[in-house]
Amino acid sequence: MIKGNHILVTGGAGYIGSHTVVELLKAGFQVTVADNLERSDFKIVEGVETITKTKIDFHKMDCLDYSSMDDLFSKNKFSSVIHFAAFKSVNESVSEPISYYKNNVGSLITLLEVMQKHQVKDLIFSSSCTVYGQPDVIPVDETAPFKRAESPYGATKQVCERILEDAATVGFKVISLRYFNPIGAHESGLIGELPIGVPNNLVPYVTQTAAGVREKLTVFGSDYDTPDGSCVRDFIHVVDLATAHVKAIQYVQNLSAKNTFETFNVGTGVGVSVLELVKKFIEVTGIKLNYTIGPRRAGDIEKVYADAKKINQSFGWTPRYGLGESLLHAWNWEKKLRG
Ligand code: WQD
Repeated sequence: MIKGNHILVTGGAGYIGSHTVVELLKAGFQVTVADNLERSDFKIVEGVETITKTKIDFHKMDCLDYSSMDDLFSKNKFSSVIHFAAFKSVNESVSEPISYYKNNVGSLITLLEVMQKHQVKDLIFSSSCTVYGQPDVIPVDETAPFKRAESPYGATKQVCERILEDAATVGFKVISLRYFNPIGAHESGLIGELPIGVPNNLVPYVTQTAAGVREKLTVFGSDYDTPDGSCVRDFIHVVDLATAHVKAIQYVQNLSAKNTFETFNVGTGVGVSVLELVKKFIEVTGIKLNYTIGPRRAGDIEKVYADAKKINQSFGWTPRYGLGESLLHAWNWEKKLRG
């Protein structure tokens, strides 16, 4: 344990948060998790404890609740915060924009108020490639201008980044990590993505179809201007995403500058189409996945993948897992879930 290096992870029972807690503990950090368990389950925390053989300092609380957050900061000397706690479904945000703004923007503001009161300056923020909208240039780099976000979810991330840019001028040191498409699960199969109800995201829908939970996968659109007509994304293993957060903490703690706002794309830099992913899943698992081509889904970006040179060079970070292994880990988790 690195003495005095105590990280607060909000949303640490979530998909990316839990995998990041594992990597932080492996790297010797002390970790506290705050999560309201609205979109997760305590069994994920238990999975983290099994993997790391460490009892997790867990607090069931909402980041919108100023007094609980204030009390937590009064009782702990956090050196840095990683803020995952947010709603994250692109198409759910279209039907529930108000709750997305309230939760995603409101919880960040509450966190910043409490951090400022307790003189905690370092913040790693969970942002998203959706801030770019449909970029004009692909692969997209961090200098790309924000276009109008295609969803309220993407808009909340744009608003949060603007808030953080302004917060940096009054003493915060902020690293905003713009995720592409997180997939896969820890190789142990003890933690992974816990979609609630019908999955919005592609890979959990694929694995649930393979497990017989869903009758068939619908590929949303095959008439896009892409090599096989289906949308293109940058699918990154969630453990690679987690290790990028450890690098970000180490980077921000070593920054001498008092005021910082820096953004980093966290992706593989490789564009993969939906149909390519489906075919890869069939190839690596041997499962004859039942899928059909359907109409486009509203709000979908046609093509986006990362120019990841900045994070590669600044953090010395490159992804370890490829698409096939990521899909095998996702399938392994699905099978464990179905017990
Ligand atoms: C991917 C592709 C669908 C389901 C995600 C996260 C978001 C953000 C960006 C981090 C699209 C297609 C999907 C299905 C399909 N990440 N699809 N059939 O929309 O790229 O957003 O990455 O912040 O939080 O949600 O991900 O997995 O929903 O869709 O054909 O049943 O798969 O049309 O082209 P998306 P997704």
